[in-house]
Amino acid sequence: MNPRKVTDGVFFVGAPDWDRRLFDALIPLPEGTSYNAYLITGQEKTALIDTVDPTKWEVLKAYLEKVNNIDYVVIQHVEQDHSGSLPMVLEKYPNAVVIANSKAKELILTHLHVPEEKIQVIEDGDKLDLGGLTLQFIFAPWVHWPETMLTYLPERKLLFTCDFLGSHLATSSLFIEDERLVYLGAKRYYAEIMSPFRNLIKGHLEKIKKLDIDMIAPSHGPIYQNPDFIIEAYEEWISDQPKNIVLLPWISMHGSTQAMVEYLTSKLVEKGVEVQPYDISKADLGELTMATVDAATIILAAPTILTNMHPMAELVAYWVSILRPKAKAYGFIGSYGWGGKTLETVKSLFSGIKADFFEPVLVKGLPTQTDYEALDKLADAIVEKHRVLGLLP
Ligand code: FEO
Repeated sequence: MNPRKVTDGVFFVGAPDWDRRLFDALIPLPEGTSYNAYLITGQEKTALIDTVDPTKWEVLKAYLEKVNNIDYVVIQHVEQDHSGSLPMVLEKYPNAVVIANSKAKELILTHLHVPEEKIQVIEDGDKLDLGGLTLQFIFAPWVHWPETMLTYLPERKLLFTCDFLGSHLATSSLFIEDERLVYLGAKRYYAEIMSPFRNLIKGHLEKIKKLDIDMIAPSHGPIYQNPDFIIEAYEEWISDQPKNIVLLPWISMHGSTQAMVEYLTSKLVEKGVEVQPYDISKADLGELTMATVDAATIILAAPTILTNMHPMAELVAYWVSILRPKAKAYGFIGSYGWGGKTLETVKSLFSGIKADFFEPVLVKGLPTQTDYEALDKLADAIVEKHRVLGLLP
């Protein structure tokens, strides 16, 4: 299998993963994903940028079948979906030097047990001359790990970004064919691993906007020939301003909590607020996670089971709390059969979140007229909050 030409001296040697259905054993991948690696052939030296997930080593190996020599392996990020085949690459090319920053070196040693003497440490801004092609390293810590770096190839106006700006999409096309699919795949990835670090990502984005870029080659998903498409999408996602959206993850056992969700949804929609309800028992956790990128308010809805909150709702509350979304207000509604400690659990789950917390609405059994009036008040409070945020007239 011959490496696939991206542009002069740059070849794709990565692997689509059409069948992978979960990322991080957590987030569904409706369109699969890919692990991209790139071969850069200068007049004097050859470099490989990243490797592939070890489950796809055979694909990378087939691309490298006729590549007699690799001088450098650039490790932009040590998480194993990109670095996991490094030991196999080094076995095939025993003279190759691993190029990494000092943090990446530490992680390569602990995660991959590569001999230390194989690693050459570079600093932010360092350049590697391949003969007519130059690799320039740009550190971008905390895309979601501390060691991540980007690689700029000025002679081709090409930026390699690893996870940053990547999308979960398995495709046989090197370049984007369907922007909508890529947008959703990129937002799914951003929401899961990058959104908690959005304040740092703002700085990375500003840095790369100063570069002269014709193409962006990420390590997941197809290559961007229109860099503005993904840069503008990221600018929207990292913005501090949420949208006029209530994210409403809910679960119901006998219909009482569901009745509350449906009532609150209809009241909010009547008042001009967009509602995104997700039935936790059936929802795609990736879609729910993507919704946290935009929502101004998050209302969790759950019944009590045994003596406490339904555990699937607790999982969502925990997940949302570590995503640290930009939402400005939170709330809880739910029902119980005879008692329990759900309210205490709600308070403890939301205690670390710096945002407003609306008065919870907890009802015994089917909601009564009084309970619906409490939901009316909650809807009014949400609308008022969205007005204050400038999201509603
Ligand atoms: Fe795609 Fe952080 O690995």
